[in-house]
Amino acid sequence: MITVNEKEHVFHLNNGRISYLLYVMDSGQMGHLYFGKALHTGGSYLHMVEKAHRPMTTYITEGDLYTSYEHLRQEYPVYGTSDYRYPALEVQGTDGSSICKPEYHSYVIVSGKKPLEGLPATYVEDDGEAETLEILMRDEWLGLEITLSYTIFRDCDAIARSVRFVNQGKNPLFLDRAMSLSLDYPDADWESVQLSGSWARERSVVTKKLEPGVTAVSSMRGNSSHQHNPFLALKRKDATEHAGEVCGFSLVYSGNFLAQAEVDNYNVLRVMLGINPFGFRWKLEPGESFVTPEAVMVWSCEGMNGMSRQFHTLYRERLARGYWRDRERPVLINNWEATAFDYVEEDLIRFALKAKECGIELFVLDDGWFGARNNDRAGLGDWRANPAKLPNGIKGLADQIEALGMKFGLWFEPEMVNRDSDLFRAHPDYIIQTPGRTPSHGRNQFVLDFSRREVVDEIYGQMYILLSQAKISYIKWDMNRSISECYSSAFPADRQGEIFHRYILGVYSLHERLIQAFPKLLIESCSSGGGRFDAGMLYYAPQGWTSDDSDAIERLKIQYGTSLVYPVSCMGAHVSACPNSQVGRSTPIETRGNVAMTGAFGYELDLNKLSEEELKTVKQQIAFYKQNRGLFAQGSFYRLLSPFEGNFAAWEMAERDGSRALVTVTRILSEINGPYRRIPLLGLNPDRKYRICSRYLSYDAYGDELMQFGLMLEDQASGQVIEGSGGSGSCEDFRSLVYEIMAI
Ligand code: DGJ
Repeated sequence: MITVNEKEHVFHLNNGRISYLLYVMDSGQMGHLYFGKALHTGGSYLHMVEKAHRPMTTYITEGDLYTSYEHLRQEYPVYGTSDYRYPALEVQGTDGSSICKPEYHSYVIVSGKKPLEGLPATYVEDDGEAETLEILMRDEWLGLEITLSYTIFRDCDAIARSVRFVNQGKNPLFLDRAMSLSLDYPDADWESVQLSGSWARERSVVTKKLEPGVTAVSSMRGNSSHQHNPFLALKRKDATEHAGEVCGFSLVYSGNFLAQAEVDNYNVLRVMLGINPFGFRWKLEPGESFVTPEAVMVWSCEGMNGMSRQFHTLYRERLARGYWRDRERPVLINNWEATAFDYVEEDLIRFALKAKECGIELFVLDDGWFGARNNDRAGLGDWRANPAKLPNGIKGLADQIEALGMKFGLWFEPEMVNRDSDLFRAHPDYIIQTPGRTPSHGRNQFVLDFSRREVVDEIYGQMYILLSQAKISYIKWDMNRSISECYSSAFPADRQGEIFHRYILGVYSLHERLIQAFPKLLIESCSSGGGRFDAGMLYYAPQGWTSDDSDAIERLKIQYGTSLVYPVSCMGAHVSACPNSQVGRSTPIETRGNVAMTGAFGYELDLNKLSEEELKTVKQQIAFYKQNRGLFAQGSFYRLLSPFEGNFAAWEMAERDGSRALVTVTRILSEINGPYRRIPLLGLNPDRKYRICSRYLSYDAYGDELMQFGLMLEDQASGQVIEGSGGSGSCEDFRSLVYEIMAI
């Protein structure tokens, strides 16, 4: 997959569908040539280098009025020589200078892909699945070695990148900026797409026309954040969900990040992705090394959906890992929205009994079971059961749940502590705080200093005791505030710029230790809903709580946006009570079930409070989900109608061989006497005949008809009342239907 033109020093990564081309410039720095649809191999590509004499330009070499980094597309640009755009790298030596001139030294090509130590990353299961190019560059003056790493995958149109720095000199160096990825496109005729939002409104799709200057999203909160996701896409202006050129960039990281697109005066576009340079400064003593998080870039000519399918396949199969990666996930019930902190053991057993009766497989006990935790002002840090609520402890409760034939799961917030806790009383110095400054709080809690090994050890020790004593099959790992006054008393002044990153490394290390000790444990990540829903977390936790907003209609947008990058199998999605506690909206239980089913499915309400009719529906939903969860988890996901653009949301899960599909259509507001509607489907076999079944009707059609003419929607609001349809109920707001398309 990787070829080298030794004469011209051109490297070509090509898997038959995509190409990535880079070369060694005459100056020794690495230049960029191309990323996109596969090009022929073995050619000469240097004609793609564009440069010219222009006034008011700074040139590299005296006597040469043509060669300036300002004009040259580069692989890992630096600032301060002749390029005035944002750089990928900024490194300061002991003399105070930040000028760096990395020059090509050598390359190696290896089969497969190496892990990134201490960091989440995509992987291969056999070396034939990928090839990796490593380009070694050196700045002799600084004694800095830089290795640019590029992995191209055989079965996925993606390239994974990371950068490794080694100080081979005699003096310390400071990395002030070390991006994971930089990419110079020859034109800026793209729109950028980002996922932005807020608590309970995560990952809305925001599309912008690129203009000269910088478009950026970032986090400086210590978690990847509800506000922006570590992702950016470029789409051609005419690209749609299903056609046209799209490139996606995703950072496999859960802390502070920057995703940026800069358009310069020659309409050249520089995309950059990595740790946010703001607040970052990493000291490299002689002999020390630093590795950036991994950035993944995918290319598709099948529009936004095509991009998403590349991410889904790679992230589901070669980022998520371990026991649960390919296993069917249990249908769960979580008590949080039903009880908050207010429960005792008998309430939970009643809860679980009803859940078992409905076919639920996993009972999850959320916040409030430990220490003096009766509200959010106490208890975090004391991971021991509160005997007033749980007289038999976690072990006793877990045993009772197991005896019912269900699995037991437990909530933790490992990174946090309340002032009112035994842990804080014993170790007030364990929190992140700046000397002489009052630490800010979030939800009355403080952030434990996970950059310190002994702090992580303490929490690991407490969790280990519980997990090894009680039958705990699942944990929900929450994180309910961002970091402030970032400072660690364990590190010297000149290493304080490392703390945000060291914190996340500590979080990853605790995950890794738990996975190693309890390989069958299913971990669901969470951060006040989706405040840390990123590719980094997916490496440790194959599912994440998508949002604290469980209203089915809000979830249409949240899950739709999230699906741009993340597979639906990792999106925790629950049916909750109505009126919904976040937005006060009442939606039919069918709609709540249909929306939640396209995810890691569960319930978050007291089933004892449902009517017989509703319970019947819940049982049917669970039975239907169990029959289809293989398809929901492993099928190809297609977004069909966007809730950001109209009154409908629709998506399809299709078996990869096209033999079956489920299409979920939700109409947000009722319409009277609306038009006839059809949705062209995808992923079917044009020559096969399918049976289309929904709640109300059944007919046969060929795949080509369904993909060209479309699936005809049953519009229950058009003024007609279909006999046996349930009468007026079907004409309400917030209705949804699942259509089953089965090859016959
Ligand atoms: C925030 C989570 O997103 C909720 O699901 C719940 O676990 C609460 N925290 C508990 O404090």
